[in-house]
Amino acid sequence: MSKEKFYITTPIYYPSDKLHIGHSYCTVAADTIARYKRAQGFDVMFLTGTDEHGQKIQRIAQEKGVTPQEYVDNIVAGIKDLWKMLDVSNDKFIRTTDEIHVKAVQKIFNILYEKGDIYKSEYEGWYCTPCESFWTEHQLVDGKCPDCGRSVEKTKEESYFFKLSKYQDKLIELIKNNPDFLQPSIRQNEMLNNFLIPGLEDLCVSRTSFDWGVPVEFDPKHVVYVWLDALTNYITALGAFSDDDADFKKFWPANVHLVGKEIVRFHSIIWPAMLMALDLPLPKQVYGHGWLLLDGGKMSKSKGNVVDPVVLIEKYGVDAIRYFLMREMPFGADGVFNNEALINRINSDLANDLGNLVSRTVSMVIKYFGGTVTNKGEKEALDDELIALAQETPKKVEELMDAFQFSNALAEIWKLISRTNKYIDETMPWALSKDENKKARLEAVMYNLCEAIRIAAELIAPVMTRTSPIILSQIGATECGWSTSKVWGAQESFTVTKGDIIFPRIDVEAELKAIEEATKKEPEVVIEHKEEITIDDFMKTELRVGKVIECEKIKKAKKLLKLQVDLGYEKRQVVSGIAQFYEPEALIGKKVVVVTNLKSVKLCGEESHGMILCAANENNLTIVTPDGDMELGSEVR
Ligand code: MSP
Repeated sequence: MSKEKFYITTPIYYPSDKLHIGHSYCTVAADTIARYKRAQGFDVMFLTGTDEHGQKIQRIAQEKGVTPQEYVDNIVAGIKDLWKMLDVSNDKFIRTTDEIHVKAVQKIFNILYEKGDIYKSEYEGWYCTPCESFWTEHQLVDGKCPDCGRSVEKTKEESYFFKLSKYQDKLIELIKNNPDFLQPSIRQNEMLNNFLIPGLEDLCVSRTSFDWGVPVEFDPKHVVYVWLDALTNYITALGAFSDDDADFKKFWPANVHLVGKEIVRFHSIIWPAMLMALDLPLPKQVYGHGWLLLDGGKMSKSKGNVVDPVVLIEKYGVDAIRYFLMREMPFGADGVFNNEALINRINSDLANDLGNLVSRTVSMVIKYFGGTVTNKGEKEALDDELIALAQETPKKVEELMDAFQFSNALAEIWKLISRTNKYIDETMPWALSKDENKKARLEAVMYNLCEAIRIAAELIAPVMTRTSPIILSQIGATECGWSTSKVWGAQESFTVTKGDIIFPRIDVEAELKAIEEATKKEPEVVIEHKEEITIDDFMKTELRVGKVIECEKIKKAKKLLKLQVDLGYEKRQVVSGIAQFYEPEALIGKKVVVVTNLKSVKLCGEESHGMILCAANENNLTIVTPDGDMELGSEVR
């Protein structure tokens, strides 16, 4: 019998040179589901990739002085490396610059045009380049993009339009009558109230003001709107509209598109409308997860408050990060990322609860039984509660994982881990070991511990890709796999091996201090620039070389020095605020640059006719002096 199919996708990412931990959230969640489904025996297709076209990418490439293709090629390699570091097990990686994708997008555009679902007109409205989104006047909030709050640009150009409005009623029906389609359910109201019920306008689906995109085949001065291009990745990656569409036939429709909440509208309105227009089946579900926030604000590189996943992985290990992402907040809702919470989770859940349980058990099996225990020990009623919980846990975990409630699923597994730790306290193996008559009882206790650990280690596998096999190997698990996790007693005996500590405890205070030091920024130097001037403005200033021939302090003013300056053609007095930086004698004989056409003023009762040029910042000051022996009175230009 062929296996049941399961197709899951993440959004395809904009190539950015540093994805933050928020980006990793969706990919780790999708990977967790993919691994869970594979463990259950599904034939899984897990897709991720990069969204490489559009005005935003073209502009960044231009700023960097490279071609858009060079820019994206460079970045995509880094994104693939990050997913590798995070143990992301995607089966395919689609790039929207892949030829197979470009060709398919062109075919789709042609089909929709021929069907009359795409037509030519003129677009006049607003465009948010960072979000690659079109907005009407009334959708703007205070004149800014309603999604990201940044400035929008007025756009007027000949464009092709997709008849999105035609699908309005069908989309309302889809969301209302098929609650599974859009989850969590709060997203349904968001879409209905904010977009569908107020009414859909046709969507501009081509641009002419830049060229980094898929050219419309029959009108190549147009490139396809980046979202129309991007959304089709979910089918083009499977070979749809290409010569080899076997995977498309096998895996489409997707079981779930996991996406962040801000792009739900593209996935639950535009994408199904496109599929309806193409007469293709709709994905079974779009799941809009919440955002990982940082100190209450959205994480973003441009806001400078990014948490670098590479740094975190190198510091704490991939499993600690994956565990934290999946455990700390409910998947549909927003959650806050902070280092203290992460370290506390590592210490309490991973080092204390899980790590200690495994290391204590392995040590005891070695100490009391030379490393091997069997299922032949002496059972007692006290064991029943632990065994019952170990038998119930996999079922509960499955229910929660099926609903993408990762945090609750992990909480259930940790209930089993805590209960197993409590079992050690209840049975007191150290006391049993002192009584020769209790050897059989002690063996049952040790066996129960190993069996409970085996089940827990199996259940954490979709999230903790490295820890699970390490634990299974330390306890000598031979009966591995999701289905055996459901069977208490599946393994008859355990031969354990002492290994390294899985999660060493972290000194919270020292660690937080080190993080604070490392992230302390040099105070930003804010340079306030003056208004731009023309060369004529500058030429109004007369600057000449002079020599200090006398210099003394001014009694009433600590900061001022009184200088007599020889300009060659005349001598004059200049008062200068440099007394904190120069002793009067040190200046005598020095050549200086004097602003000679400055109106004279009185400073502390002394006349100052001109100004000495100095280089200065908050802490330091030096006078400007000609580099070489210039005649007195020479002009400085
Ligand atoms: N390219 C589009 C998606 C096209 S899909 C056909 C895009 N790319 S993105 O790089 O900006 O975002 C990719 C995913 O990362 C989105 O689902 C987005 O919601 C998610 N996240 C970005 N920042 C995030 C957090 N701080 N927290 C959680 N997810 C976040 O959008």
